[in-house]
Amino acid sequence: MGRLDDRVVAITGAGRGIGKEIALLAAKEGAKVVVNDLGSNTDGSGGGNIADDVVKEIQAMGGEAVANTESIAQVSGGESLLQSALDAFGKMDVLVNNAGILRDRTIFKMEESDWDAVIAVHLKGHYCCSRPFANYIRENNHTGARIINFSSVSGLYGNFGQANYGAAKAGIAGFSRVLALELAKYACTVNTISPGALTRMTIPLRENRGESVEQEDLEAGGPQHIAPIVAWLASEASAGVTAEIFHTARGGVAIMQQPLVIKQFKKTSGVWSLEELDEVVPQLIAARAANIEAAKDQTTVVD
Ligand SMILES: NC(=O)c1ccc[n+]([C@@H]2O[C@H](COP(=O)([O-])OP(=O)(O)OC[C@H]3O[C@@H](n4cnc5c(N)ncnc54)[C@H](O)[C@@H]3O)[C@@H](O)[C@H]2O)c1
Repeated sequence: MGRLDDRVVAITGAGRGIGKEIALLAAKEGAKVVVNDLGSNTDGSGGGNIADDVVKEIQAMGGEAVANTESIAQVSGGESLLQSALDAFGKMDVLVNNAGILRDRTIFKMEESDWDAVIAVHLKGHYCCSRPFANYIRENNHTGARIINFSSVSGLYGNFGQANYGAAKAGIAGFSRVLALELAKYACTVNTISPGALTRMTIPLRENRGESVEQEDLEAGGPQHIAPIVAWLASEASAGVTAEIFHTARGGVAIMQQPLVIKQFKKTSGVWSLEELDEVVPQLIAARAANIEAAKDQTTVVD
C-alpha cells in the first residue's frame, strides 16, 4: 500500500529537478501522475519534450503517468493540465505548482520582459493552474484535495539581484494564505514549500561563486530531498495542515514563521506626532530584534 494510492497528482515543471523527484516519489507511493513541463531553458526560452521521458520512467517502474507539455503561464495551460488528469484518470486530487524560471538582474538592469516573464511563470502560473482546479473542486464538491505551492527564501527573506523572482515568490506565499481560506470549506489544504536543492537552477549560482558540485554534494543536497514533504502534504495524513510554509533543504524539514504583529503602541486619541515616533520606532525595532533572537532556528537532529 502506498501513501498516495488512488490519488491523482498533477505537477507543473516536473520534467526535471525538484518536480521530477516529486513525480517519481508520488508514483512510487501509488499516485497516478500528470507530468507537466514545456522543457524550457532556465530563463524560460526554448522548449523540448522532457515530460515524456519522466512518464516513461514512471511506467518502467510499473506506475501510471501522462505528459502535458503546455505552458502553465496561461490559464489555458492550467485548464489543459486539469483536462489531462480528467481524460487519463477521471479526476484530480493534488496540484503541485512547481514550474519555474529565473531572469536574475539588479533593478538597475531589469528589463520589463525580465519582470513579466518571471511573474508570469511563477505568480501568474500559480493562479493559472489553481483557478481551474478550485472551480473543479467546487463544482464537484470534491473534498480532501491538496494544493502545494512553491515559494523561496528569495522572496521570504530577500535576495540580491532577484527583485522579479523575490516579488513573485513572496506573492505566492500570500496567494497560498488566501487560497487556504477560500478552499477550507472543501477540506482542501493549501501549503507552501520553500525549497533548497542543487538543480540546474542553483548549480550555476554555486559555480559562479567558484564552488564545484561533486556527486556527494548532489547526494546531500539534491532535489530528491524536497519530494518527501511534498508527498506527505499530498497524502491524507496532512488533513488539517494548511496555510503553512515548510522550508526543506539538505535533509532538513522546517516550519517557517509567518507575518504577524510583534508589538504595538496605541494612542486612544489624536494622531502620532513625529516626535512621538522618534521614541517608539526604536522600541519597535528592538522588539523585532528580540523576536528574531527568540525564534532563531532550533534544529533537532534525527537519524
Ligand atoms: N532549486 C532550489 O534550490 C530552489 C530554491 C527555491 C525555490 N525553488 C523553486 O522550486 C521550483 C523548482 O525548481 P528547480 O530547481 O527544480 O528548477 P528546474 O529549472 O530544474 O525545473 C523547473 C522546470 O520548470 C519548467 N518550466 C518552466 N517554465 C514553465 C512553464 N511555463 N510551463 C511548464 N513548465 C515550465 C522547466 O522546463 C523546468 O523543467 C521552482 O518554482 C523554483 O523557483 C527552487
